[in-house]
Amino acid sequence: MNILIISGSPMTQSRSSTLLDYAQRWFNKYSAVTQRVSVRDFDANVLLNAEYKHSQIQDFIQKIKEADGIIIASPVYQSSYAGILKAVLDLLPQRSFMSKPVLPIMTGGTDSHQLALDYAFKPLLAALKAEEIMSGVYASDNDLKHSKQANKYIISDQIIERLNNNLQIFYQSMNRNKKHYPNLVFHVNAQSIMELR
Ligand SMILES: Cc1cc2nc3c(=O)[nH]c(=O)nc-3n(C[C@H](O)[C@H](O)[C@H](O)COP(=O)(O)O)c2cc1C
Repeated sequence: MNILIISGSPMTQSRSSTLLDYAQRWFNKYSAVTQRVSVRDFDANVLLNAEYKHSQIQDFIQKIKEADGIIIASPVYQSSYAGILKAVLDLLPQRSFMSKPVLPIMTGGTDSHQLALDYAFKPLLAALKAEEIMSGVYASDNDLKHSKQANKYIISDQIIERLNNNLQIFYQSMNRNKKHYPNLVFHVNAQSIMELR
C-alpha cells in the first residue's frame, strides 16, 4: 500500500504537518509505504511561472499516480486553504486524484473557520476528481499546543480520536479498491497512541 502525504503549510514548524506526522507514523506502524511532499519542496519560480512541465511537477505527478490514497493538509489562510497549496495543485493535470480516496486535514487559528474544510478544501479536492473524500479533521490552535520542552506541537486527545477514526475509514476505502490488501486489525489503545504521538 502506497500513501502520498501532501503538506500545504509554508511554515517550517507547522501544526498541520504535525497531524500529518501522526498519520505517517500510523501507517508506517502497519508497514504501509508513505511518500511525503511539501509545498516547501517546490521552487517558487516554478509556481509563479506555472511551469507545469518542470521536473519538480512531473515527479509530483508520478507520486500521485503511484499512490493508492492521499492525505492532504492545509492551514486556514483568509478563511480558506493556503494559496501556495493551490499554486501547486493548479499545475496538475485534470482529474489527477481520480480513483483515489483522499483524507483532508486543516488547522486554523480558531474554530470559527472550521467550515473552510467543507466549503473550501473539499470542493478543491472534488475538482481534482478525488474518488471518496473522508469527513476529514479540523483542528484549531488550541488543539495543538506548543511544548517548549519537547519543541513540538502536542495533539489534543479529541483530535487524536478524530484522526484515528478518519485513518481507519481511509484505510478501509483504499482496501475496497485494492482487494488484495489484508484486512488489518487495529489496536488503537493508550500505549499505541503514546508511541505515535
Ligand atoms: C497568513 C495567515 C493567515 C491566516 N488566516 C487565518 C484565518 O483566516 N482563519 C483562521 O482560523 N486562522 C488563520 N490563520 C492561522 C493559521 O491557520 C493557524 O495558525 C494554523 O494552525 C497554521 O497552520 P500551520 O502551522 O500548519 O501553518 C492564519 C495564519 C497566517 C500565517
